Amino acid sequence: MQKIIVAIDGFASTGKSSLAKRLAETLNYTYIDSGSMYRAVTYFALQEGHQGHIDKEKLLAKLDQIEIYFKYSKSGYQTFLNGLNISKEIRLSEVTEKVSKVSKIIEVRELLVTQQQKLGAKKGIIMDGRDIGTVVFPKAECKFFLKASPEIRAKRRQLEQIKAGNNESFASVLSNLKERDLMDSTRKFSPLTKADDAIEIDVSEMSLEEVYHQLLEHISKKII
Ligand code: DC
Repeated sequence: MQKIIVAIDGFASTGKSSLAKRLAETLNYTYIDSGSMYRAVTYFALQEGHQGHIDKEKLLAKLDQIEIYFKYSKSGYQTFLNGLNISKEIRLSEVTEKVSKVSKIIEVRELLVTQQQKLGAKKGIIMDGRDIGTVVFPKAECKFFLKASPEIRAKRRQLEQIKAGNNESFASVLSNLKERDLMDSTRKFSPLTKADDAIEIDVSEMSLEEVYHQLLEHISKKII
């Protein structure tokens, strides 16, 4: 069966990662969460910065020291930065609050986009993010763009946070989401936009199960 590239873009907390992961398992494809790469660079920048501030010049000077890779194990998809498993750390609110600022930096984007393209060179990949269908894989055979109301997404994010042991109020999650939406959609380089040939799905009133089946149906048409 022919292997293709599937790009799943859209707003934060629309279920992109869970869907991409499950679809990759079903299809026996590689799954890559591109957001975790931007989070890993943000985590690195925070470590190098001072008291929660990011020093852009220092980050740029050390960009070539960043090595990100992934492992799949029983405990799930894990993100490594320079040999350390930082899967939990990259979900902390300190990282979430700063990640849109770091993702605006063109040098960071160029570095990560090149790595993402290498990961997809052999196809058979499902990548989720913000610019996968527009910039990383403009020729991807199957592209999706997911959206949902900010309130529904904030509720989802809050539940995920609680499961991960991070207690954050609904108001604070919602305000961070709205701020990130704005920064991600208005940034100068590769802003969050729907690719012309992407299938747009509003998941506000849909269960993850329903979205999964819809995406799988579209993908199946491309690989048969
Ligand atoms: O998918 P996520 O919420 O974990 O992504 C975190 C941030 O990373 C998001 O606010 C914007 C940035 N990002 C990006 O700029 N481009 C991508 N392809 C993926 C994520």
